[in-house]
Amino acid sequence: MSPRKSYSIILASDIHCGDPRFDEHLISTAISEINSIEPDLVVVAGDLTAKGYREEFEEAKHHIDLIDCDKKVVIAGNHDHRNVGWVFFEELFGRRFKTIKYDFDLYCHEVYQDKLNLIAADSSKPDLDEGEIGRQHYDWIKETFSDPNDFKVFVLHHHLVSVPGTGRERNIVWDAGDVLEVLKDAEADLVLCGHRHVPYVWTLGKTIIVNSGTMATLRTRGYSRPAYMSLTVDHESISISTHVPGEGIVKKDDFLRSRIPPKKIMSA
Ligand SMILES: [Fe+2]
Ligand SMILES: [Fe+2]
Repeated sequence: MSPRKSYSIILASDIHCGDPRFDEHLISTAISEINSIEPDLVVVAGDLTAKGYREEFEEAKHHIDLIDCDKKVVIAGNHDHRNVGWVFFEELFGRRFKTIKYDFDLYCHEVYQDKLNLIAADSSKPDLDEGEIGRQHYDWIKETFSDPNDFKVFVLHHHLVSVPGTGRERNIVWDAGDVLEVLKDAEADLVLCGHRHVPYVWTLGKTIIVNSGTMATLRTRGYSRPAYMSLTVDHESISISTHVPGEGIVKKDDFLRSRIPPKKIMSA
């Protein structure tokens, strides 16, 4: 792929196919907007279904397949673990824990080699709304995120830090403190999640934590709106936009990257 100035990531979440407040018009609007962005990577951060039924997963897959992007990462959420729904998730979307690497060449006077190293972890438990990453996965995260030059992205469904406007705190994973320490020590660049349907961006040390809203339902809280996020990454900065389907960008945050990727050594 030839070098370009930036690449884009879409974070969508909480489609909830089968839910009475699922909205066909919202999802088709959001997908046509996403396709016009021409994203390089799309992350769908769980809660594809209402109750984990097979036909709900099939409907979610139908919509996700309409997103025009050859790099998609889809994980399960707590609703997808209801009624042993994870068996359908694995059948239709693959493994629940995965690592994926993508290389992007970024151009700004010179060519920088951005190696995006993504971990997607299933934080959900059967029939529970609460979640956990689990001690057994910490060494895997540390090892995967051991290269200091990588751009490190961690994806889970639940939150790692409480999100305002979500009611009584029951949203963060049980082991949030330990996971945050693992990610801090590994110098993770981005955490991408969904779950409580309220879009919000936190920074914690060198890590930017991006929480998507619900892209396709009216399962919102208070004044929050259905939303998905777009991230534009260049060699020195990340801009994060909150999109309300049909209304455009309602918020934009800009951040400097914690480290500039290495310059590419060009062969003569
Ligand atoms: Fe949800
Ligand atoms: Fe959820």
